Amino acid sequence: MLESQITLKDHDEARQGEALLLDKKEGRSGRKLYIESYGCQMNFADSEIVASILMDKGFETTGDYKEADVVFINTCSIRENAEQRVRNRLKEFETAKSKNPGMIVGVLGCMAERLKSKFLEEEKLVDVVVGPDAYRDLPSLIEQVDDGTRAVNVLLSREETYADINPVRLNTNGVTAFISIMRGCDNMCSFCVVPFTRGRERSREPRSIVREAQALFDAGYREVTLLGQNVDSYKWTPPVAEGEPAAETITFAKLLVMVAEINPLLRVRFSTSHPKDITNEVLYAIAEHENICNYIHLPVQSGNSRILELMNRTYDKEWYQERVDAIRRIIPSCAISTDVITGFCTETEDEHRDTLAMMDYVQYDYAYMFAYSERPGTLAAKRYEDDIPDEVKNRRLTEVIAKQREHSLLRLQAQVGKTQKVLIEGYSKRSDKDYCGRNDQNAMVVFPVDERFKKGDYVHVLVEKCTSATLIGKINN
Ligand code: SAH
Ligand code: SF4
Ligand code: F3S
Repeated sequence: MLESQITLKDHDEARQGEALLLDKKEGRSGRKLYIESYGCQMNFADSEIVASILMDKGFETTGDYKEADVVFINTCSIRENAEQRVRNRLKEFETAKSKNPGMIVGVLGCMAERLKSKFLEEEKLVDVVVGPDAYRDLPSLIEQVDDGTRAVNVLLSREETYADINPVRLNTNGVTAFISIMRGCDNMCSFCVVPFTRGRERSREPRSIVREAQALFDAGYREVTLLGQNVDSYKWTPPVAEGEPAAETITFAKLLVMVAEINPLLRVRFSTSHPKDITNEVLYAIAEHENICNYIHLPVQSGNSRILELMNRTYDKEWYQERVDAIRRIIPSCAISTDVITGFCTETEDEHRDTLAMMDYVQYDYAYMFAYSERPGTLAAKRYEDDIPDEVKNRRLTEVIAKQREHSLLRLQAQVGKTQKVLIEGYSKRSDKDYCGRNDQNAMVVFPVDERFKKGDYVHVLVEKCTSATLIGKINN
C-alpha cells in the first residue's frame, strides 16, 4: 500500500475502490451489475463502456456489490501492489459469493490480460476473465457462465476503439468527463507492462471523438479530458476512396483544435504527453485557444540520461529540458506535472540526485512518484537485475516526495493574490457552504458558495491563501 500513502495526491488512485453508481433506468427490470475500477483514467473510461454494453442488454447497475448478480473488478497491473490490492478485494467478494452462489464474479482489464486463464486457476471464485479489447463479448461470456462454464476472452485487437459505443457516465459530477481517443501503446519503456496488457497503439476516428464531446457539452458538461497513453502520437489517416485525393492526416494538435472549437465554454484537457513526441504544434494550439487548458502532464521518470536509456524512454536529460524550455517560452503560465520512478535497476546515488536536480530545474506543479516495481515479462525484468534494495528505493522516494511538496507549495503560493477563472465542479468535499473547481492550470480551488452561480458555471476567484494542495479564495466576478 506504500504508493497510495506516499503519493502526494494521486487522482488516478484516489478514486480506487469507489463503488460506481448510476441512476437506475426506470421500468427496466434486469440483473444488477456492480463495477469497481482500479488504475488509470483509461480504466475508468473503459468501465463506462462496459456499463453501456451491459445496460443495452437490460442490466441495471448497483452501488452495493452484496446485492449484485454480476460483480466486475476492472484491474490494473502497473505495479505489484496494484495487483495485490485487487487480490485483497477479491477475498472480500468471496464472502458475498458464499451467501449468494449465483453471483457472477468477473475480472476485467490489465490484470485479466496479463494473467489470462491462470486467473481461473489462482482465484477459484472468478467466473469470467476479460481483457480490455474484448468487452463487446461480455454479454455472450455471461451467458456462457449462466450455462455453467467459466469463460475467458483476452484477445487483443489492432482495431478496437469502441468508437461507436456511447459510454454511460458513472459516478459523474455532470461537469467533467473523460474521452478515450486512442488505445494501447507502441512504446516499449523497459519497466512498463502496458504494451503487454493493452496491445498495439490505435487511434480512434476523430469525428466520433468530436461527436462524443459535443454530446457531453449538450448535456451540460463543461470539461473533457482526452485520454491516451501517448496522446502526441495520435494519428488518423482517412481511408482514401479510389480516384479521390488523399485527405489530410489528423494529428493530435489538429484533434485538440477540433474539440476546442465545439464551443469556447468547453474546456479541453489531455493526458498523457510523451516527452519524445510532444510537438510545438501542440504547444501553439494550447497557447492560441483559451479553452485548451494550460496544463501538461509530462512524465520524466528519471533525470539521468543513462537511466533514461535503460528505461528505453528514447529521450535524454537535455531533450527533456529543451521541451520544458519550449513550454515555458510558448505558454508561460503553463503548469507541468510529472511521473517519477525511484530505484530503477542499477541507479546510483549520483543518478538519483540527477532526478532531484531535474525537479529543481522544472519546479513541477504536481508529481506522481513511485518506487520501481519489477513487472514480469517486461524488457527490464528480462534484461536487468532489480538490484536496488527496497529501503534504498523508498528512501529515494521519500526524498523525491519531500522536494515535490516544497515545489507544489511554492507553485500554489505564487497564485495567491491573483484572480483566476474556475469551473465550478460542485460542493467542496468538506462542506456544502463551499464550492470547489479547478483553475486553468488544474489546481483545485475552494471558495464560499454564491447562490448566483451553480455547478458548471465559470467564475472568477480571487485567491487569498493556499494549503499544500488547494487554493482558497472568494468569488470576484
Ligand atoms: N503512458 C504514460 C504512463 C502510464 S503508467 C507515460 O508514458 O508516461 C503511469 C506511471 O506509472 C508511469 O509514468 C511510471 O512513472 C509508473 N510506472 C509504470 N511502470 C512502473 C513500474 N514497473 N514500477 C514503478 N512505476 C511504474
Ligand atoms: Fe508504458 Fe512507456 Fe507506453 Fe507510457 S509510453 S504506457 S510508460 S510503455
Ligand atoms: Fe494500470 Fe492498465 Fe492503466 S496497467 S495504469 S490500468 S493501462
